[in-house]
Amino acid sequence: MDDLPAVIMLDQQSFSLPWPESSFKFEIESNPLARCWVAEATREADAPLMVAMIVIWLIIDEAHVATIAVHPEFRRKGIARRLLAFALIDAYHAGMEKSFLEVRRGNDAAISMYQRFGYHEVGVRRKYYQDNGEDAVLMDLDPLDLERLIPLQ
Ligand SMILES: CC(C)(COP(=O)(O)OP(=O)(O)OC[C@H]1O[C@@H](n2cnc3c(N)ncnc32)[C@H](O)[C@@H]1OP(=O)(O)O)[C@@H](O)C(=O)NCCC(=O)NCCS
Repeated sequence: MDDLPAVIMLDQQSFSLPWPESSFKFEIESNPLARCWVAEATREADAPLMVAMIVIWLIIDEAHVATIAVHPEFRRKGIARRLLAFALIDAYHAGMEKSFLEVRRGNDAAISMYQRFGYHEVGVRRKYYQDNGEDAVLMDLDPLDLERLIPLQ
């Protein structure tokens, strides 16, 4: 909960349809399926800075990546890759055998990252996003290969 204000700011900087504060509160405080993580960076003597967040829902044996974002000034440094790998490995130890997510068709950065993890496109939700009617691409990672995740962390 201490990270919530920074998470909300990051969400608003990163998405055209940010989550309301109540959604993050629900995930952190009330959703037993949610596993919420942040990544912090430390620069010289400064206090640690929250630079990335991820929410994963672990539903029986499937990890659904609900959201992931990295602060714009800290992108292309491998932070999302490491955070996603960490969160999937954590979910694996909690029983995950496969993973699933939705991503905007035009989000080349995210799709490229997910492909690096071995996610494959398995379907499309037409005009899924309310702001611009963009399609959602459904991707899954099945079965999970732990050996592939470990070097990505
Ligand atoms: C997508 C996002 C999380 C990637 O974060 P990041 O920390 O910059 O990503 P990384 O540096 O860990 O890169 C991991 C891989 O993602 C891909 N990638 C990341 N940014 C990319 C870009 N701008 N163009 C193409 N590929 C990119 C690459 O495959 C990269 O591997 P490489 O560096 O070996 O080429 C970040 O751009 C972001 O927060 N975007 C806004 C929120 C968002 O779209 N979240 C995804 C919702 S589904």
